[in-house]
Amino acid sequence: MKELLQSLTPGDRDWRLASELDPARIPAHIAIIMDGNGRWAKRRNLPRILGHKAGMDTVSRIVETCAQLGLEALTLYAFSVDNWKRPRHEVEGLWRLLRYYLRREMPRLMQNGIQLVAIGRLDSLPPEVRRELLAGMEKTSENRRMRLNLAINYGGRTEIVDAVNCLVDEARLKGELSSLRITEEMVSSRLYTAPVGDPDLLIRTSGEMRISNFLLWQIAYSELYVTDTLWPDFSRAELLEAVLDYQNRERRFGGLSVDALPSVDSASFSLEEEALELPLA
Ligand code: IPE
Ligand code: IPE
Ligand code: MG
Repeated sequence: MKELLQSLTPGDRDWRLASELDPARIPAHIAIIMDGNGRWAKRRNLPRILGHKAGMDTVSRIVETCAQLGLEALTLYAFSVDNWKRPRHEVEGLWRLLRYYLRREMPRLMQNGIQLVAIGRLDSLPPEVRRELLAGMEKTSENRRMRLNLAINYGGRTEIVDAVNCLVDEARLKGELSSLRITEEMVSSRLYTAPVGDPDLLIRTSGEMRISNFLLWQIAYSELYVTDTLWPDFSRAELLEAVLDYQNRERRFGGLSVDALPSVDSASFSLEEEALELPLA
């Protein structure tokens, strides 16, 4: 947080937004559905892949800002299990861009202490993409400042199925399959995102009001922020605005807000009972 303010120009818009933030309530984990690259390109009469290329620069900018903010984790949705349905040349272009990103950004990830973790079904990726991703994960594995989860060939349902199958395999190995009972904690601990907590804030760019199979389990109580801004145009200022918006939310996790809690005296309890007017005796 302090680092972010130091890196900004006092008085400008980003600096003013950053100084409005409450340092005690920075989200620990932000997840982003980076959508709108295609529309960004279309508006400029450019091929879609150039939208993805511009989106890659947004990734660099946002990763750096999140690290400066002091996040523990940032999870970015880069390629879904359903994105294989796109034309072959777009999918191949995305793999080329990913490899280029890894080469270009590795020094900065190291310099900024960022651990790269690819999450998703990596086995089905083109071999050279998979190899370079694994090498990047290995190289950054000791970095502790922030964890960057890159969701690649990722599906929320796939992740839950993989977690359950993992539990089944473990139980079978221990000869305990017939007595296996699955709890929420067991599933959570086998998800791809396991070492980090659930996202506090989920951002989606480009205005679509849907989740598109992202982190289905983990977003149970995440705060949602949807902006019409297309991903290549998503600026540092807009990220700070999203965090400010998050800081003005009240997270109740199914409970009540402090001012809605009834006083504990028995008079207020019988008052509630009377109001219900449903004698059951
Ligand atoms: C998101 O941008 C990036 C990926 C899914 C890889 P899109 O490519 O979905 O952009 P739109 O939704 O077509 O504008
Ligand atoms: C979600 O965006 C996937 C990524 C951002 C990687 P999509 O563009 O694939 O989702 P839909 O098709 O609009 O639901
Ligand atoms: Mg899209």
